[in-house]
Amino acid sequence: MNKLSLLLVAVSVSINAFCQEVKENKGFYQFLTDDPNQKPFYSDRQGVVASNGMVASAHPEASKVGIDILKKGGNATDAAVAVQFALAVVHPSAGNIGGGGFFVYRTRKGKNYTLDFREKAPLKGHKDMYLDAKGDVIPGLSLTGHLASGVPGSVDGMVEVHKKFGNLPWNMLLQPAIDLAEKGVILTAKEATGLNRIKNDLLKVNSDTTYFRLPDGREWKAGDLLVQKDLGKTLRRIQEKGRAGFYEGETAALLVAEMERGKGFITDEDLNQYHSAWRTPLVGQYKDYKLITMPPVSSGGVALLQLLKFVEPYPLKRWGWHADSTIQVMIEAERRVYADRAKFLGDPDFVKVPVRELISPDYLKQRWEDFDFNKASESKVVKGGYIPTYESLETTHFSIVDKEGNAVSVTTTLNGGYGSRVVVKGAGFFMNNEMDDFSIKPGVPNMFGLIGSEANAIAPSKRMLSSMTPTIVEKGKKLYMVVGTPGGSTIITSVFQTILNVLEHGMTMQESVNAFKFHHQWLPDKTTFESGAFTEGVIQRLQSRGYILEMQRNTIGRMDCILVRPDGTLEGGSDPRGDDTSVGY
Ligand code: GLY
Repeated sequence: MNKLSLLLVAVSVSINAFCQEVKENKGFYQFLTDDPNQKPFYSDRQGVVASNGMVASAHPEASKVGIDILKKGGNATDAAVAVQFALAVVHPSAGNIGGGGFFVYRTRKGKNYTLDFREKAPLKGHKDMYLDAKGDVIPGLSLTGHLASGVPGSVDGMVEVHKKFGNLPWNMLLQPAIDLAEKGVILTAKEATGLNRIKNDLLKVNSDTTYFRLPDGREWKAGDLLVQKDLGKTLRRIQEKGRAGFYEGETAALLVAEMERGKGFITDEDLNQYHSAWRTPLVGQYKDYKLITMPPVSSGGVALLQLLKFVEPYPLKRWGWHADSTIQVMIEAERRVYADRAKFLGDPDFVKVPVRELISPDYLKQRWEDFDFNKASESKVVKGGYIPTYESLETTHFSIVDKEGNAVSVTTTLNGGYGSRVVVKGAGFFMNNEMDDFSIKPGVPNMFGLIGSEANAIAPSKRMLSSMTPTIVEKGKKLYMVVGTPGGSTIITSVFQTILNVLEHGMTMQESVNAFKFHHQWLPDKTTFESGAFTEGVIQRLQSRGYILEMQRNTIGRMDCILVRPDGTLEGGSDPRGDDTSVGY
């Protein structure tokens, strides 16, 4: 072949590649041409690309801590432990030692592990603990104050992770968080606003000496320094004694004294008995991709696999991103999945959760039989009997990949922003209000107009149902993507969309995070969407088929994700909706 022929072949290959690209992205452009002025992204933020390691988390300081640990020879799990403790300092609204979470891990050799360090109901907890003498729900009791807390799991979880997989010494992993607590953290505008929002609650449930409230109720502003001396001391005890530095000794005594002061239920016995649990990872397949995700007491893993299986037969790629047909099958999948969630999901140590059945092809086929493209299904006739418990948007997620290719996906939470608003006196950290993730009165609407189910009723030492969905995706037996987000019940649908945006719509990691999102959770029977997510044409077509659509003022999701690009480099995608930041090296 002469030089000219070679050139022609090369040109033709590249033209074909280009045509292929345009064709493959047809739906995406279809969205744009429906209204060429409408952008599908919340922001134009670009992904962070690096070769040796990546940390994507809710706060730039926490991501820097994770990268420093990787650079010092730590693996992804070492970095995860350090990031978890750093977030407890720099992101007190959701980062925590007084809460719990889930850890999903894929080793570079493809072995998978999941750790459940979700909080538990105290031993004194019972079904009626939030009801008055008439059996009515006492508003706010499961949300604010001492009774709202479950027994924290985060410290035990991190100890377990380190014991099994850690490479660097434990004390090294605590030091960055201790430094941040003792030297102080510069508040971002979002953290300052958050602390100002809770200043009255802080006063109501604490003595007024907590450092999260400025004297005389003055307002925090971006750039202020938040020093947390008591938290520094607590972290030093954990650094020195590991698990015993939290669940025994001085920290435990301070926590129990705080509970006694506020008539909370958590005792020494609760703290002694708390242990996180290694669970068998939930693994599923979507086309050529393998998903490794969290089993119950997360509802998220089961729901994600169901959602993907429901939409798998449809040509989403050809239809296009947020084309009406694409949205329609996703909404109908979400409707059915959230109905199942409440009927069947709860703590597997207490109730039988039929996981295999819920994700089996026969079951899903039968659930889809009443789907009709001409008309929206109605939630009141979709079987299930579920109404999700209220879950706040204040949780946090981080994703880490190290230079060996070990990958960690962790979602952790206090539940509501700053949890129960109770700061343990002398120990300086927020306690969770995770008890509200139980059905506080099964079968009856709670204060948010939502109903819970018997499977998720309170019982001593039981774990409350969660939507947290930390997930890892493999392609061709290799690591492909690490995904997760806070967002209460919207966690599941945000993870679902973020995965499909990459797998089906050819988006980069950051584009997928930036992309506008929508959410349906069976009841209430409506689809909420971020402003800009749907074009006018799409809205009209969906409404004509009976869909109730509601644009919401708030954003959906705070994704922190990592994608392995074809050349093996890592792309960190962190959500521009928050302070979230990816740092790589
Ligand atoms: N508290 C949020 C969740 O666990 O889903």
